[in-house]
Amino acid sequence: MTGIKIDGKEIAQTVKDRVRKAVKELKNHRINPCLATVLVGDNQASATYVKNKHKACEEVGITTKDFKLASNITQSELNRIIDELNNDKSIHGILVQLPLPDQLDEFTTTSRISPLKDVDGLTPYNAGLLAMKKAALVACTPLGVMEMFDYHNIELEGKNIVLINRSNLVGKPLYHLLLARAATVITCHSKTKNISELCQLADIIITAVGDRNKFTLTPDMIKKNAVVIDVAISKYKEKLVGDSDYDQIIQKASYATPVPGGVGPMTVAMLLKNTITAASLSSKIEK
Ligand code: GUN
Repeated sequence: MTGIKIDGKEIAQTVKDRVRKAVKELKNHRINPCLATVLVGDNQASATYVKNKHKACEEVGITTKDFKLASNITQSELNRIIDELNNDKSIHGILVQLPLPDQLDEFTTTSRISPLKDVDGLTPYNAGLLAMKKAALVACTPLGVMEMFDYHNIELEGKNIVLINRSNLVGKPLYHLLLARAATVITCHSKTKNISELCQLADIIITAVGDRNKFTLTPDMIKKNAVVIDVAISKYKEKLVGDSDYDQIIQKASYATPVPGGVGPMTVAMLLKNTITAASLSSKIEK
């Protein structure tokens, strides 16, 4: 028997339906939720991601403002633009698309964003709140993964979870979210020596490497009936792939996510949700 597909498109739609209602509520209170996106340079993949985010905002009634900046912009120029967006009362959420060109520092840039408008949950303030289980704004991909577990009532308490990623956007926030749900979390990365053995212990594997030349999660590495969440997306042999081959993994897993159509749509849906949260936060403060 094969496992159950965790369909990101289907779950994202349920989130979007909830967001659409929340947008109407906010508009009834004369709050017009608005997301500003900042795209630096001409990275094609980033441009496509930002375009998809705008389209999704439009679908649910969230206004967007689009800032496309030259690839050679200086840090102080970028800081000044972020300050302007922080001070603009009509903007509730700010997203600076990553990665940034080399002359710009990711930490300096993301920490410049007002924590109240930080829809990526990347500011030190929001990252710290998450570690204390008090966060209002959490990185979108980790939130999307949690939504997938809850949609399928996948129990987390007491489960052994292997996380293959340690980034600020994925691995670290997921670690805290899972720990808060009383899972036992092992975080693996490029220097971990025995990933295969650790995966064998896992009830749930969340993998986000994104380079098939370095890593592939194969069925022999997982326990029968494990849950596999594949966060990665990259081009390999002219195809868009995750870290695993869904068709093979699903023969052994109890649940698994396809790529594309898995975690990707959830990231966008949770950005919409965070924008609503940010709009509610700012309106509370103004009262
Ligand atoms: N680049 C890839 N994923 C993301 C994301 O979730 N947020 C931002 N800001 N940049 C990204």
